[in-house]
Amino acid sequence: MVPTVDTVRYQYLTQTLIKNLCPVMLVGPVGTGKTSVAENTLSKLDPKSYSVLSVNMSAQTSSNNVQDIIESRVEKRTKGVYVPIGGKKLLTFMDDFNMPAKDTFGSQPPLELIKLWLDYGFWYDRMKQTQKYIKVRFMFLIYKSTS
Ligand SMILES: Nc1ncnc2c1ncn2[C@@H]1O[C@H](COP(=O)(O)OP(=O)(O)OP(=O)(O)O)[C@@H](O)[C@H]1O
Ligand SMILES: [Mg+2]
Repeated sequence: MVPTVDTVRYQYLTQTLIKNLCPVMLVGPVGTGKTSVAENTLSKLDPKSYSVLSVNMSAQTSSNNVQDIIESRVEKRTKGVYVPIGGKKLLTFMDDFNMPAKDTFGSQPPLELIKLWLDYGFWYDRMKQTQKYIKVRFMFLIYKSTS
């Protein structure tokens, strides 16, 4: 990757935010280097303390898929509380976050699930309807804007 003023700036910003466990979202038009900046930042993380879970979103991705993928990487700590497996910090990296298809009401269910999770820290067990707190509030989102 060729360093430019923009890539150096966004590299620094994303690295700093991620080190402080803040969620990051990169937004921009097609081919502006969002994925490259993200992958560069991820490659600089210490694998001893961070693990990365990549979720490539597509039009077919459902909120069930996203929930299942993330739940496959957490383990139960106490009643209703789930933490990443192995005691590492788990970073979820979701590329093409804008892709999931809209439902009848114009919302994108996987994005609604992530919003619920960021706002309240939990989502629901779909069988038992109980709250599940998922202690991985730390993610990297790539959103392709169309305008
Ligand atoms: N600073 C750079 N130096 C070298 N190559 C770059 C740079 N920025 C972008 N590119 C190249 O431009 C292309 C598009 O970059 P990238 O895939 O990261 O864009 P994107 O924003 O993720 O696009 P999309 O929205 O389509 O996913 C890639 O082939 C990448 O290697
Ligand atoms: Mg991309």
